[in-house]
Amino acid sequence: MLTIYGNVFYKGRIVECGIEVENGVIVDIGKDKKGKKVDGIIMPAGIDVHVHFRDFKESYKETVESGSLSALYGGVCLVVDQPNTNPPIVDEDIYFRRMEIAKRMSYVDYSLNLGLVEDNVDEIDEILRKIEEKHYIPAIGEVFLRGKMSVRYETLEKAKKTVNKLITVHAEDPNEDDDVNAEVKAVERCLSIGKFHFCHISTAKALDMIYNTDSTSEVTPHHLIYSKEVVKLKVNPSLKSNEDRVALVRNFHKADILASDHAPHTLEEKWEGAPGFPGVETLYPMFFYMAKRGYIKISDLVEKFVINPAKIFGFDRYGGIEVGNYANFAVFDPHSEKPIRARDLHSKVGWTIYEGLMAVFPKEVYMRGEKVLEDGEILIDRGFGKVL
Ligand code: NCD
Ligand code: ZN
Repeated sequence: MLTIYGNVFYKGRIVECGIEVENGVIVDIGKDKKGKKVDGIIMPAGIDVHVHFRDFKESYKETVESGSLSALYGGVCLVVDQPNTNPPIVDEDIYFRRMEIAKRMSYVDYSLNLGLVEDNVDEIDEILRKIEEKHYIPAIGEVFLRGKMSVRYETLEKAKKTVNKLITVHAEDPNEDDDVNAEVKAVERCLSIGKFHFCHISTAKALDMIYNTDSTSEVTPHHLIYSKEVVKLKVNPSLKSNEDRVALVRNFHKADILASDHAPHTLEEKWEGAPGFPGVETLYPMFFYMAKRGYIKISDLVEKFVINPAKIFGFDRYGGIEVGNYANFAVFDPHSEKPIRARDLHSKVGWTIYEGLMAVFPKEVYMRGEKVLEDGEILIDRGFGKVL
């Protein structure tokens, strides 16, 4: 038995107490459980439900190894990787191939969505069944409605009828030129089909439409922090006007999940217009800093980056610091704020749109009770992460 003692984010506030851990799981929490005191604030580790770790033929820009290392440095202990890889994850063989890579290479716990395309919709149930004999699939998607790997609404509807599984959608209508309308229109259409999880929502209007339905929503740091007037780089969904951005910030409380949409590309590819930004390492540090400054509530951050991701994607034993959950913690020293520098980050791409913004990076990270990061040093090997 191991006891981790200190200032713990427990049941919505910070209290001084001890956490007893056995076989990686929290078995008791209490003021009387004493142990060696950990400096800083012991937060539950983050869960990033939207990362693109590339690998395969795009290993030059990110791999499961480099992406998961970046996640660990950012206080994230579980990721959901997306299937729009090259080749894409649209059948059981490629799914198993990817999980073999993750078993050997991932620093953090790893899960993988199954892709839905026009070509596999008729077999999707069968593919799911084969994979689920070996692995836990958090969701189908992200399903694209426009661009590469896109499916028609009718196909989405068909999938919705045949599978009893969370489906995550990249909601942008293919026939609408205006990006705000494209999102609103796609969300409206999807809501008429049924329950979905909507990835990276970038407009207050769409967020509001999803709120109070049984569907769920996700927002990203880049849509909250930057407008198209300030950052000219391409991302899908696009950055919106500053007015739209402010409206999104004001409606932040309506979002269920905060996720990075970590989408790395090389600088050369960015100049050629490749959409997406890296962000798995900077999300928790930036938002912890904002919470420290009082811009957001720390309990909202935990709800959207830890509790709801576990709940919505069905991750047993993950979530807040609670008896029965894994002892996965990110320890932040609130006094150690510093500007984000791309050279300090661990994604392969070597750049960030958050250069110079203030953040508090975790000084220690624990996974299943084991200290895996301390003062910038990784104490475990790749492959330590559990594949779900
Ligand atoms: C993502 C990517 O590069 O894989 N790009 C992006 O701009 N967000 C795809 C996606 O999630 O839309
Ligand atoms: Zn997307």
